[in-house]
Amino acid sequence: MAYNLLKGKKGIIFGALDENSIAWATALRCVEEGAEIVLTNAPIALRMGEINKLAEITNAPVIPADVTSLEDLNNLFTKSMEHFGGKIDFVLHSVGMSLNVRKGKPYTDLDYDFSHKTFDISAMSLHRVLQTAYKLDALNEWASVVALTYIAAQRVFPDYSEMADAKALLESVARSFGYHYGISKKVRINTISQSPTRTTAGSGVKGFDGFINYAEKMSPLGNASAKQCADYTVSLFSDLTRMVTMQNLFHDGGFSSTGVTMDVMLQMEK
Ligand SMILES: NC(=O)c1ccc[n+]([C@@H]2O[C@H](COP(=O)([O-])OP(=O)(O)OC[C@H]3O[C@@H](n4cnc5c(N)ncnc54)[C@H](O)[C@@H]3O)[C@@H](O)[C@H]2O)c1
Repeated sequence: MAYNLLKGKKGIIFGALDENSIAWATALRCVEEGAEIVLTNAPIALRMGEINKLAEITNAPVIPADVTSLEDLNNLFTKSMEHFGGKIDFVLHSVGMSLNVRKGKPYTDLDYDFSHKTFDISAMSLHRVLQTAYKLDALNEWASVVALTYIAAQRVFPDYSEMADAKALLESVARSFGYHYGISKKVRINTISQSPTRTTAGSGVKGFDGFINYAEKMSPLGNASAKQCADYTVSLFSDLTRMVTMQNLFHDGGFSSTGVTMDVMLQMEK
């Protein structure tokens, strides 16, 4: 069901790789709600992924940008404003990658060059995106920025490894920049802490099947899907949530507030 919540709004969506991506579902929902969008991803992901299919469905241009490149981000915001004929109302940061996890290095044996890249791609990229927009004055007043995160920023999930540290940094950047952008332009910045979701990035975490099943059993409402995450994100891009900023918002079926469930208790009694 569509409510025209984003009618007339213009946004940039980072991170749609394939149909499973949370950003893919969000791009579809934003357009359904009346928005115009620009899609972006790293040049290599554009070659590997299926983004052109999404671009066709959503009638959106694709502008490549590696989130570690200031030059790419400058070009992305400049070209997006040219395309829209004006400033931007929302940005989705749906980007994450851990080199140590990908290469199978455990948390107690990290390669620090890899870690540096992980933090750069997964966390400082949000700062780079915001600082680029800030300097170009690319966002309208009351614009809304959402970045995706995971509860490993607050609690230990061993196989999530260095991504836990990256997410803690990401959430901190959202808070800190949320202050400055709020004061200067009334721009709001939040993170959504999403349930485990079957995507390329998600499935890269060791033991993901056990992980997702455990979360399902530990959440009174069950795990939140990518589509449900897209719905929630649309509400944060809309004018109905104008006074929400600098928050880490759990979108997890109640997982973050649950100590134990009967389902899990029964498993333990076996
Ligand atoms: N899947 C989950 O279980 C889950 C749970 C909570 C939060 N998240 C977060 O959601 C976000 C989206 O991930 P997803 O699960 O949809 O997986 P995904 O693999 O579909 O998306 C990750 C995206 O990051 C992009 N990316 C990686 N390096 C980049 C770079 N240098 N420049 C630009 N883009 C780059 C990839 O191309 C890809 O499109 C991530 O921040 C992830 O950590 C995922």
